[in-house]
Amino acid sequence: MSKKILILPGDGIGPEIVAEAVKVLTCLRDEFGLDVDMNEALVGGSAYDEHGHPLPEETLRLAHDCDAVLLGAVGGPKWEPLDISVRPEKGLLGLRSELGLFANLRPAILYPQLADASTLKPEVVSGLDILIVRELTGGIYFGRPRGVETLASGERRGINTLVYTESEIERICRVAFDLAMKRGKRVCSVDKANVLECTELWREVAIRVGADYPEVELSHMYVDNAAMQLVRAPKQFDVMVTTNMFGDVLSDCAAMLTGSIGMLPSASLDADGKGMYEPIHGSAPDIAGKGVANPLATILSVAMMLRYSLNAPAHAERIERAVSSVLDQGLRTADIASEGTETIGTTRMGDAVVAAMRD
Ligand code: IPM
Ligand code: MG
Repeated sequence: MSKKILILPGDGIGPEIVAEAVKVLTCLRDEFGLDVDMNEALVGGSAYDEHGHPLPEETLRLAHDCDAVLLGAVGGPKWEPLDISVRPEKGLLGLRSELGLFANLRPAILYPQLADASTLKPEVVSGLDILIVRELTGGIYFGRPRGVETLASGERRGINTLVYTESEIERICRVAFDLAMKRGKRVCSVDKANVLECTELWREVAIRVGADYPEVELSHMYVDNAAMQLVRAPKQFDVMVTTNMFGDVLSDCAAMLTGSIGMLPSASLDADGKGMYEPIHGSAPDIAGKGVANPLATILSVAMMLRYSLNAPAHAERIERAVSSVLDQGLRTADIASEGTETIGTTRMGDAVVAAMRD
């Protein structure tokens, strides 16, 4: 039976970059026998404009009903004045929590062809291959109580709550250890156990889970030090596992080590391997509609989808090889351009990847 993919272009550059990823999927379907069915729906600001909500019921129904979701990006200045409950980001957070996508995989890999694009010295980042495993459906993003209340004095007080159960910590740690077994067999659990009881528990559970993986070396790091180590000596890390909030911050930092956030895909998985796949970068409203955005992170997200949700690793490799070959040809979008390369736009980059897939 065909696998069902739900395509959610979203806002800003989302539709432009997703269109290129759809070209890649279409090529795999029509020319290489990938058995998929694609459906499209609205999410984020564009969904709010059309239906008054960033996650319309129909979109959620289709998301429940598919094998994997491909998402572009959500948000933009147009929707910033809206109440937080209907802002585009709520569409994304709603999908994550409604689909139970608790495991967010954010690889930071430096393509050798792009060593010049990093702001760090080449010797610090060359060969970089880190995987950040971020807990995605708990922690301070979802904890209650939350909100802004007015005190008797008339002063307002803002509240968010960091909360994790042992089982929530355990399942994300297991994902990290399982992945580490397939890579460098090292896990660094990032917490703030010196200050926050909740992450003291995190550390305790990480150690307990680690006992089931005697081959994996487990270390612990406070989040402030982890941020520093990421820019000081990033190659010390293999897999990092951390809370929703710390993972949000550290993954942006790790992404920039590779020179361009425009290159990095991500996967958000549930307990059964269903997933939502999206580039790490945002909707980049400043360049939306200009045809200059880099579609490679979205195209590489399709490769992750093929590997993690559709069990089609050969198709994933075809995409990854094609991306590497396009970089070898010296083709670059503006965000990764450097001397001696040819700067091209979004659609030409997508076309170049599709052409390289046929080689
Ligand atoms: C991310 C983003 C989101 C997050 C926003 C858009 C809600 O920053 O995926 O990292 O904070 O998780
Ligand atoms: Mg973020």
